[in-house]
Amino acid sequence: PILPVILAGGSGTRLWPLSRALYPKQLINLVDRQTMLQNTLQRLNGLDAAIDPMVICNDEYRFMVAEQLRQIHVHPSAIILEPVGRNTAPALAVAALWAMRNGDDPVLLVLPADHHIQSADHFQRALTTGYDHARSGRLITFGIVPRSPETGYGYIKMGPPLSRDDNPGTAVAIDAFVEKPDLETARGYVDSKAYCWNSGMFMFSASKALAALETFVPEIVAACRAAIDKGTADLDFFRLDRDAFSKSPSDSIDYAVMERTENGAMVPMSAGWNDLGSWEALWQVGEKDAADNVVKGDVVLHDVSDSYLHAESRLLAAVGLKDHIVVETSDAVMISPRDRVQDVKGLVDRLKMRN
Ligand code: GDD
Ligand code: MG
Repeated sequence: PILPVILAGGSGTRLWPLSRALYPKQLINLVDRQTMLQNTLQRLNGLDAAIDPMVICNDEYRFMVAEQLRQIHVHPSAIILEPVGRNTAPALAVAALWAMRNGDDPVLLVLPADHHIQSADHFQRALTTGYDHARSGRLITFGIVPRSPETGYGYIKMGPPLSRDDNPGTAVAIDAFVEKPDLETARGYVDSKAYCWNSGMFMFSASKALAALETFVPEIVAACRAAIDKGTADLDFFRLDRDAFSKSPSDSIDYAVMERTENGAMVPMSAGWNDLGSWEALWQVGEKDAADNVVKGDVVLHDVSDSYLHAESRLLAAVGLKDHIVVETSDAVMISPRDRVQDVKGLVDRLKMRN
């Protein structure tokens, strides 16, 4: 079977002021009526091999996560609570150890809870291909044809196909995996057409994932094992032991495993993927009006184009804007040119220093 492992731990500061420490982007409805966590789970509907998912998130999000699953009638096999954030490698170690605690060895499908995917059909087709290769022992990631030299992504150098057919969805070996290259390197990769973006979604059997983690980052596995052994069940939740989990080094799956393994393979995915990492991305995926504006809430515009305007609590009126982002909430307003939205993260860092 496929055990979906939903990572719902990040705080998404580049989408401030809508995404907050207490309401991170995966738990709010940025694109649809439903939250991104709910969309992530519903995208799996109809995937026959999938069993009840597990969600791994920070302790602070537990009630919101439980409530959002309940709303869409998803029964989690576990909601595992992290007392502190240690990035994705420890989350994966916990998932693998947990999945194997009764001697089972499912294929883990690791899904960030904050990605936007247009076509659930294409997505599921790629998962089905990935599942076959994961069962035969490969560490699978899903590759996206790069659209720009984005430096916040991992890049996968595509090797030879794993099976001999001309299907464009055929899995390929990974010749090299480079996490977050600098801009010049990223440009070279995109121009070469030999690389894909890493989508950040993974598939591998629990035992292969654990074996890789044991090889590359044994301290993480040891800390996570202790955190489960000393952890406590609490209603529907399982709370990892704070002291034990805190001792885990912080690292991501990409650096800890994917850059180092020789067993990696990539399944190409053309499903309209976007990780909604910035306001610019929300403009890109949003439904545009005749002047290419994306508008949410009570907004009145005159001579405004190519902009994203979002009103949460008041009327938002604008004149003569082009290529701008304006986001209004009850306690903060953020205004930025569309090509400067990466700097919102820096803005939030300054705000934190003010408190
Ligand atoms: N449970 C849990 N705990 N989840 C976490 C934690 C944690 O400590 N840290 C991050 N996450 C979740 C985030 O919420 C997000 O859904 C996912 O794990 C990935 O973390 P990011 O922090 O967003 O990673 P990234 O964007 O820097 O890079 C990853 O994603 C890119 C694509 O979006 C990498 O996999 C890159 O290679 C990839 O290109
Ligand atoms: Mg991300």
